[in-house]
Amino acid sequence: MKINKNLAALPAGYLFAEVAKRVKTFSAENPDARILRLGIGDVTRPLAPAVVAALKKAADEMGTPEGFHGYSPDFGYDWLIDAIIAGDYAPRGVEIARDEVFVSDGAKSDVGNLQELFGPDAQIAVTDPVYPVYVDSNAMAGRLGDYVNGKWTNLTYLPCNAENGFVPPLPEKRVDVVYLCYPNNPTGTVLTKEQLQVFVDWALENDALIVYDAAYKAFISDDAIPRSIYEVPGAKKCAIECCSFSKTAGFTGTRCAYTVVPGEVTYDGVRLNRLWGRRQATKFNGVSYLTQRAAQAVYSPEGQKQILETIAYYRENARVILAGLKKAGILAFGGVHSPYVWMKTPEGMPSWDFFDLLLKKAQVVGTPGEGFGPAGEGYFRLTAFNTLENTRAAVERIVSVL
Ligand code: MLT
Repeated sequence: MKINKNLAALPAGYLFAEVAKRVKTFSAENPDARILRLGIGDVTRPLAPAVVAALKKAADEMGTPEGFHGYSPDFGYDWLIDAIIAGDYAPRGVEIARDEVFVSDGAKSDVGNLQELFGPDAQIAVTDPVYPVYVDSNAMAGRLGDYVNGKWTNLTYLPCNAENGFVPPLPEKRVDVVYLCYPNNPTGTVLTKEQLQVFVDWALENDALIVYDAAYKAFISDDAIPRSIYEVPGAKKCAIECCSFSKTAGFTGTRCAYTVVPGEVTYDGVRLNRLWGRRQATKFNGVSYLTQRAAQAVYSPEGQKQILETIAYYRENARVILAGLKKAGILAFGGVHSPYVWMKTPEGMPSWDFFDLLLKKAQVVGTPGEGFGPAGEGYFRLTAFNTLENTRAAVERIVSVL
C-alpha cells in the first residue's frame, strides 16, 4: 500500500492537538496547578434554553412513529435553510436561494473539504497568520510544494501584521483561490466593506475564487462592518462563504454549520454549486434532525435574545483581556468584533517559548502565533471563551508574569 506522502509530510501535530499535548504533560507533572485555558476557541457557556427545548422536543418526536426521522436531506431541511436565509441574509439585504445553502456538521470540515473542488495544481493564497485548516487541507492534497523553514514553497502568504494594520495585501503573483476569514482567526481584526471590495474586484478581474470563513460574524458589533461577503457587490460571482453555529450559538459540541455556494460562481465553465452538491451528496450523510431543530431554534425570537446575551458575555471577556493587556503596556489587537485577542510577545520572544513560559509561570494556556503561520511569530492568541472569573484571573497572572 502506498501512503499519501503529502499527508505524511505535514509538519508536527495539528496546532491545537500540539497545544493540548503540552498542557496534558504539564498537568501530569503538576497535578495541583490550576490551569486557566484561553487556548483553543472552545465555548464554555451552556446552550440557550430555546435550543435545549428544541433538542428535547425533537428527541421526543424521534421516539414516536409519526415523528421519527431517518436520513436527513443531504443539504439540510428546508425549514432550517429558510431560517438561515431569513435570519442571516435577508436583514442584510442579501438574496440567497434555498439551493445555494448547504447545511453541514461544521465549518472546519467545510473549509477543509472545499479544496476538493480545486484542480491539483490550483494556486492557493492565505492571509498569514491563518487558521491552519486551509493550509493543511491543501497540503494534504499536494498543492503546496515542500515545507521548508516553516513555509510551504508553493503557497502564497499574504502577511498581516501591526505594520500593515492587519489588512492583507493582494497577491503579487497569479493565484486561483484566496482564503479570507473575518472577523479574523487568529488576529481578531476585521475588514471594512471597502477593504473587502478590493479583494472581490481582484477575484473578478483575475478569475479567482474567495473562500470566505465567517465563523465569527456574530461578534461584529458595528453595523457598517459586513457580516457576509455577499454584502459586497460582485461577491456572489466569486465567493463561497462558510458559517457556523459553533461560536454564534455554542454549538462546538453540538455540531452544525452551513456553507453558501451561489449559483453564479462558475469556473472552467462549471458551477461550483453543482460540484459541491455532488461532493457532499457522495461523502456526507446530512446533519441529524435533532441538531437541525436545535439550529432552527437559534433563529426564534427567544433563541436570538439568548444567544446575544451569551455573545455579550464573551465580548466582555475580550474587553477585559484587551484592557488588561493594554493597561500593562502590552501591544494587543482584535478583541472588539471578535472573541480573539492577538498580543505581541514580550521583546519579540518566540511564541512557543512564550507559550511554555506562561504555562509554567502563570498556568495560563494561550495559542502561539507561530502555529498560525510565519507572520504569527512574535505574537500570541488569547480567547474570550472562558468564564469571566477565569478570564480576569488569567489576565492578572499574565500581566504579573510580564
Ligand atoms: C480556534 O481555536 O482557532 C478554533 O476553535 C478552531 C476551530 O474552530 O476549529
